[in-house]
Amino acid sequence: VVQTEGGRVEGRSHRMGLFRTVDVFKGVPFADVPGKWEKPKPHPGWSGVLKAHEYRDRCLQVTLLQTKTQGSDDCLYLNIFVPQGLKQSSGLPVMVYLFGGAFLLGASNDVAILGDSLYDGKELADRGDVIVVTVNYRVGTMGFLSTGDARLPGNYGLWDQHAALSWVRRNIAAFGGNVENITIFGQSAGAASASFQMLSPHSRGLFRRVISQCGVALSPWALQKNPMVLTKKIARKVGCWRSDEDEMLACLRMSDPVGLTMAGKIDFKPPCAGVVMDLLELAPVVDGDFLPEEPGRLFHHAAQFDFMAGVNSMDGHLFAGVDLPSINQKNGNTTVQDLKGLLAGLTKEKGAAAVDSAYSVYSAHWGSAPEPAVVKKTVADIETDFLFLVPTQIALQLHANNSSGARTYSYLFNMETRIPGLPRWVEAEHAEDLQYLFGKPFSTPLVYFPRHRDLAGYMIAYWTNFARTGDPSQGNSRVPVPWPAFTKHRQPYLTINHQISKTSVSYDLRAEYVSYWTRTYSRLPSVRREEDP
Ligand SMILES: *[C@@H]1O[C@H](CO)[C@@H](O)[C@H](O)[C@H]1NC(C)=O
Ligand SMILES: *[C@@H]1O[C@H](CO)[C@@H](O)[C@H](O)[C@H]1NC(C)=O
Ligand SMILES: *[C@@H]1O[C@H](CO)[C@@H](O)[C@H](O)[C@H]1NC(C)=O
Ligand SMILES: *[C@@H]1O[C@H](CO)[C@@H](O)[C@H](O)[C@H]1NC(C)=O
Repeated sequence: VVQTEGGRVEGRSHRMGLFRTVDVFKGVPFADVPGKWEKPKPHPGWSGVLKAHEYRDRCLQVTLLQTKTQGSDDCLYLNIFVPQGLKQSSGLPVMVYLFGGAFLLGASNDVAILGDSLYDGKELADRGDVIVVTVNYRVGTMGFLSTGDARLPGNYGLWDQHAALSWVRRNIAAFGGNVENITIFGQSAGAASASFQMLSPHSRGLFRRVISQCGVALSPWALQKNPMVLTKKIARKVGCWRSDEDEMLACLRMSDPVGLTMAGKIDFKPPCAGVVMDLLELAPVVDGDFLPEEPGRLFHHAAQFDFMAGVNSMDGHLFAGVDLPSINQKNGNTTVQDLKGLLAGLTKEKGAAAVDSAYSVYSAHWGSAPEPAVVKKTVADIETDFLFLVPTQIALQLHANNSSGARTYSYLFNMETRIPGLPRWVEAEHAEDLQYLFGKPFSTPLVYFPRHRDLAGYMIAYWTNFARTGDPSQGNSRVPVPWPAFTKHRQPYLTINHQISKTSVSYDLRAEYVSYWTRTYSRLPSVRREEDP
């Protein structure tokens, strides 16, 4: 039983090995039930002992198939995993996890496929000797609807994360944590969230380090630049469209959260007019408060935090397969025209000149008659670069260039995919890093091989060392090879798979393509875009 600011909470102890246990607290409230489109409020507290034995509801969201909703607005809870040895733990580093799911889906206790949920923190806590905290935050319409002004400022989900981090800062010492050593880490939309937290002026001194796995605030899908257009679209779907904006907002405020949540689902209208990226609409906004300016202008706030970031080698494959299904079909025919069409969809804001210049960069090494697999892999590479890899490289550079003392680390995760039935050229798919970091090869050993346990051990070692010392190579856990820091003048990165050796450190990740998107492409003039009515 631990005393927190709201009252006492009782966890449960799980045996991990001889003399080793993990105390698990599930469903600890970090804020009150939030008002609709309001910032989270402090929890009023409770008397007696709160039995923290079960996960609480996820925040209201559409299901994976988008046919209905699940979850509740009473969802601002977190879960805590505290490793214990022979004596009571104290002064442990703390790692706070932000889940991914396109700002639309997900929960602190997501998908239990075999045994525990994917984000169960027991293995990571036990093997890395860190406290793991997993938190809920609002998503979809309830988390991110915005008018782009004070009427509905948006970013409610980011404020929830901020409230959770503040709660951790105020209370984690009672669980044995060191408040000066808090790291936030996340994947995909959770990684972009960690990046937004790092850029916000509200985070000063709140935590110490950040890990972004496959997403940063600069990712083109992470920021909604036209929130009012989206709000009007959602209003139309729930019957709240009015020519007077204030009347429309009054109607939205009175509407049922379930209907509003369904109205925020992704519309896959066949044939899809653009690229799947354009469908990810509910996202953080520049609100003049949590995010005072465009993320690219906020890196001076990030300079105080140590930063580790990387991508999976085929993070974009999932998206590429939706945009051009032929890449995954054995006899599918992916043509140059298809590839140019995809580029046109991604680079709409720059018009035809961008398509030609990007095509010439990506086809430069093809030779005269490229194999179909080469063209298909190029499609996946384009989406990986555009959606994930290049924005991550820019964020790493801006961080390293602004830092005075804080450290920067870059990685590329390229373990062979475990997803059956994909073409041979597919490498590490989006989200495949998580099973290793959360130690699934140890907790469900029968569905993994020894090489997967090697990789899980390496990732847990680097990640928890970083949380402990700010340097992934220094700390309690031995690592296979030192991981050099990324600086203003040198850009090393570690390639992460089951065979890490000296040759796993390389320099200037995909420099040719990073240079194209950051120099040539960004200098092309923008063309006028028609907006949705
Ligand atoms: C973080 O923890 C390490 C190891 O316990 C400790 O040496 C370091 O001083 C801590 N950092 C701060 C700022 O307390
Ligand atoms: C530091 O960050 C700012 C944005 O806050 C950016 O404009 C600037 O280029 C960065 N400084 C360096 C030296 O890169
Ligand atoms: C692939 O598409 C091109 C262009 O449409 C066509 O010329 C070619 O015959 C197609 N190949 C196959 C195997 O379908
Ligand atoms: C960071 O600084 C290096 C060295 O001065 C420079 O080459 C690079 O373009 C800078 N990156 C960004 C994003 O400003």
